[in-house]
Amino acid sequence: MRIKFLFLVLLLCQSVQAGALPKELKIIPRPAELKLTPGSLFLPGTITWFADDSIQQLDFLNFVNEWKTLPSKPGSMEGIAFTKGTRKRSFLRFELAKNQKLSEGYYEMVCDSSGIKICANNPGTFYALQSLLQIFLNHAQGQTLPYFVIRDFPRFSWRGMHLDVSRHFMPIPFIKKYIRQLALHKMNVFHWHLSDDQGWRIEIKKYPGLQNISSMRKESMFGHYNEQKFDGVSHGGFYTQSEIREVVAYAKALKVEIVPEIEMPGHAMAALAAYPELSCTGSSFSTATSWGVFDDVFCTKEPVFNFLQDVLTEIASLFPGTYIHIGGDECPKTRWKVCPSCQENIRNFNLKDEAQLQSWFIGRIEKFLAAKGKKIIGWDEILEGGLAENAAVMSWRGTSGGIAAAKMKHPVVMSPGSHCYFDHYQSDPSRSKIAIGGYNPVNHVYAYEPVPDGLSAEESSYILGAQGNVWTEYMYDFRDVERMAFPRLCALAEVVWTPSLRRDSVSFFSRMFAHEPQLINVFDVQSSLSAFSPVVKASPSADSTGIEISVGSVMTDLFPDWCTCTYSVMPLDPEEKSRSGSMVTYPCSLKTIIHKPVSVAPCIYVKGSTDCMETPVSEDVDVHFHDGCFRKLSAVPPKSPYFQGRKNNTLLDGEIAVLPRRDYQWNAWNQHQVALTVDMGKTDSLFSISPGFLSDEKNGIFTPDSIIFKISTDSINFSVRKIAYNDIPLRLKKPKKNNGSRPAVKTNIYRPIMKFENSIARFVVVEVYCNSANSTNSEPSNSIPWIFMDEIKIKTKRK
Ligand code: ACM
Ligand code: ZN
Repeated sequence: MRIKFLFLVLLLCQSVQAGALPKELKIIPRPAELKLTPGSLFLPGTITWFADDSIQQLDFLNFVNEWKTLPSKPGSMEGIAFTKGTRKRSFLRFELAKNQKLSEGYYEMVCDSSGIKICANNPGTFYALQSLLQIFLNHAQGQTLPYFVIRDFPRFSWRGMHLDVSRHFMPIPFIKKYIRQLALHKMNVFHWHLSDDQGWRIEIKKYPGLQNISSMRKESMFGHYNEQKFDGVSHGGFYTQSEIREVVAYAKALKVEIVPEIEMPGHAMAALAAYPELSCTGSSFSTATSWGVFDDVFCTKEPVFNFLQDVLTEIASLFPGTYIHIGGDECPKTRWKVCPSCQENIRNFNLKDEAQLQSWFIGRIEKFLAAKGKKIIGWDEILEGGLAENAAVMSWRGTSGGIAAAKMKHPVVMSPGSHCYFDHYQSDPSRSKIAIGGYNPVNHVYAYEPVPDGLSAEESSYILGAQGNVWTEYMYDFRDVERMAFPRLCALAEVVWTPSLRRDSVSFFSRMFAHEPQLINVFDVQSSLSAFSPVVKASPSADSTGIEISVGSVMTDLFPDWCTCTYSVMPLDPEEKSRSGSMVTYPCSLKTIIHKPVSVAPCIYVKGSTDCMETPVSEDVDVHFHDGCFRKLSAVPPKSPYFQGRKNNTLLDGEIAVLPRRDYQWNAWNQHQVALTVDMGKTDSLFSISPGFLSDEKNGIFTPDSIIFKISTDSINFSVRKIAYNDIPLRLKKPKKNNGSRPAVKTNIYRPIMKFENSIARFVVVEVYCNSANSTNSEPSNSIPWIFMDEIKIKTKRK
């Protein structure tokens, strides 16, 4: 015990030694220059403002309009009003910056006894207002702001975020919300990935097949690629040209340029589904239902150019920006190698091989778009076989493509998979919702340096910036996108905006602690807190005789000097009636193994606590070592791919789910009935079975109408017990018959219990029936209920 205590003291000392955090305004990305000066400014209830310039006026009026709509404004900021004042006497004054040499996006903001003065050009004023918005939102306490001077400008001109809407379609309101978040973080490029094998997402007037056929797929792959499982549910959607125009105008006001991507010559299955004559073989195709790379691509024959040029003509007229992304990645040459038209092109144009044929293909497109005043950008494969004149390269397969292009004096956007792919896991994969793979936590993104080693200063000037990519194979809706994009977007925003010498992990993460709650509460962006939350894990001990408890978080692992991590353990009484008892606290470096049988009760309460950079966070878990723990469980039908919980037996891992919902604690089914079979390994005298259910009716999650328990010693002959509707606390109120509905029930967890007398069993079957999903405010129109289940506690009689 003394050793443990010493250890704890050591940890605490380390954290103190690391010094006090810098006092600074919590702005992300961190301004290039920020000085706090002595004194503070009282914020009046009405802020008078003045701007001469029409763009500055417009930027500020947009700020005020947005301000009025934001929920959860901090304390004294809630009631603040804005009104136009005079040049001399206004509290908030805008001026145009006179110096022509200032970098694009530069602004200066000074807060002193005379108020706040912003001096900037377009788009600097807008960026000043994004800083001011974050400053206002951070001033929950008191009505004063510290005096400060900010001089700020971006490090890179391409500060991008990408979004794949082909793998999963995302609705227009979310596209706008995403663009708003880019702008809040001073990012200025939205790369909209509009076509791919699994769906074409933009209306092209000349080719209605793209809307009618290419925008839909019959079903989607779920689970990891090697499992080859499909959901049987059609998926689709596309944006009309009028919606596109609306989004372009919205982005313009937020100083964001949209770079549309139309994939060619590969990733073309959706287009070929509608226009098979554009393939090499002319056979029939369907919009792809699995992920990956396909051999059937656009042919290089003339009709393909006619088609793509028509498409790009409409695209060019919809998007006013300079760049159009033409894809160019992952184009197998299998079909081209045996296609008479493609081989004829190789001969006629004196090309060496299919790689040069692709280069020739991209070169034609580049010239076509150049005549329309547009530049192309493509994935780094466009280097192969020769880079088209004036093409920019997006380096995704590491950095070598970017280095090569910069040496050839071509513009480069860095987006390597290692740091910029936000479809990779950001925390422990075993506790995360399924992702495509990889591991790219927020601190890794933050450590990214976009200018690769090995370039001269002159060559480095071709690095336009960097971009985060959000491929949505495993992001089924906008909430998934939010949880994957954030907080990594915040880290990347600082990478591309802030001078490298001003980047500092400790400062960033301490600002993130204030920033993330803002994202969630003010902007309704479900940033993933997984890096910060302590995770309490219960797993079978190596010798299988006990449960091993371990606690940690991504943050504590990364910043041990800046964090303390402890956990407390308290025995619970086996009837789980109370949580009162004496707690014992250990540092996380010491693991606890709870053995069975134990002198204390086989149920424990574990609370993991971390404190990183002066911000304590805790997570608590009840772990019940019941007799079903880690036994074999099978489910018919299989659980939904969207809610798999932890891979290893979420329903029998001893960990009891709590609210608010943590997805990894649940298994779910979008079904009317589910049967779960547990093999206890040996026949024993049964005491009780108690499965956990979530009720969250607004989200279509219902508790069962009835549960049938079947027990058996041989898995052939079963005896049957049933819990009906009225025995489950939630369903006490039957639907009111007059309108067929009943009031929605509060989100809660229910745990009906079935007790047994004189029953022996080895096999336990829990059959769950959920007939109705009718409720007054059930949101999903789908009438099939979701059944969410957690721990099936199984107890045998104590001997
Ligand atoms: C890519 O990730 N295929 C560009
Ligand atoms: Zn061909």
